[in-house]
Amino acid sequence: MRRPMVVANWKMYTRASDAYILANMVRDKVAGIDGVEVVICPPIVWLSEIAEIVKRDGKVSAGAQNMYHEEEGPFTGEVSPLMIRDIAKYVIVGHSERRDHFSESNMLVNEKVLAALKHGLSPIICVGEKTKSAPISFVVKQLKDALAHVSKKEYQNIVIAYEPVWAVGTHQPSSVEHTEKTTVTLREIVGREVTMLYGGSVNHTEAEKFVKSQVDGLLVGGASLHASRFIDIVKIWAEGKSFK
Ligand code: PGA
Repeated sequence: MRRPMVVANWKMYTRASDAYILANMVRDKVAGIDGVEVVICPPIVWLSEIAEIVKRDGKVSAGAQNMYHEEEGPFTGEVSPLMIRDIAKYVIVGHSERRDHFSESNMLVNEKVLAALKHGLSPIICVGEKTKSAPISFVVKQLKDALAHVSKKEYQNIVIAYEPVWAVGTHQPSSVEHTEKTTVTLREIVGREVTMLYGGSVNHTEAEKFVKSQVDGLLVGGASLHASRFIDIVKIWAEGKSFK
C-alpha cells in the first residue's frame, strides 16, 4: 500500500554502541511524529538488537540491508530470509553497492525478491541507472527483471527505491524533474499503489524539495547516521506529505 516512508540505510557504518545510541534517539524522536513510516536498516550484526530497541515504541520498523535467497545451506557468510523474517519487516534488495561490489545481477535480485515475499518480508527494491546519460530503459529493465514471476497481488508488499547510482553518496542528488520523469515511467509497470522512494545524497534540503514531488518516501544513507539530520528529514516528510 502506498504510504509516506523514510528509510535509513546505515550501510557498513556504526559500531555496536553508536548503533544502539542512534536507534534509541531515532525511536524516541519518532515517537512524537505521526504520518510517516520510518525504517532503520542497520548492519546485520546489530539487526536483532536494533529491532528490539525500536519495537519498544512500535513506530519505527527494522529492515535488513541484504539477504541471500536460499532458506539454509552451505553459504558461508550469508543470511537467509528465514533468519530475518522473525526480526525485521523489510529487506533492501538490489542496492547499487551490492550490484557493483558483489556483482549482483538482475536475475539474483529477482531471486531475492521472490524469496523475501515467500517468507513474508517486504523487499525494498533498488533500481537506478549508472550514469546521467543512461537511457530510462535501463531502469525499466532492472525493475521488470526484479519483478519477474511476482504476482500483481504481491505488489502491495513491495517498495521501490529509485536510486540513480551517480547520485548515491556523491552529494549530487538527482533533480525532482528527473526523478519524477523516471518514477512516472516505473509506475506504469507497478501501478499507482506501490510506495516509491527516492534515494541518493538526500539531506534536509532534498527532503524539502522532494516532499512536494510525486515520490512517496526517501531512502537515506549518509544523513541517516546523524540522529538530528535524520529526524529533520522525517519531520519534513511527516509535515509535508499526506495521502488523503
Ligand atoms: P546516500 O545513500 O544518501 O549516502 O547517497 C543512499 C543509499 O545508498 O541508499
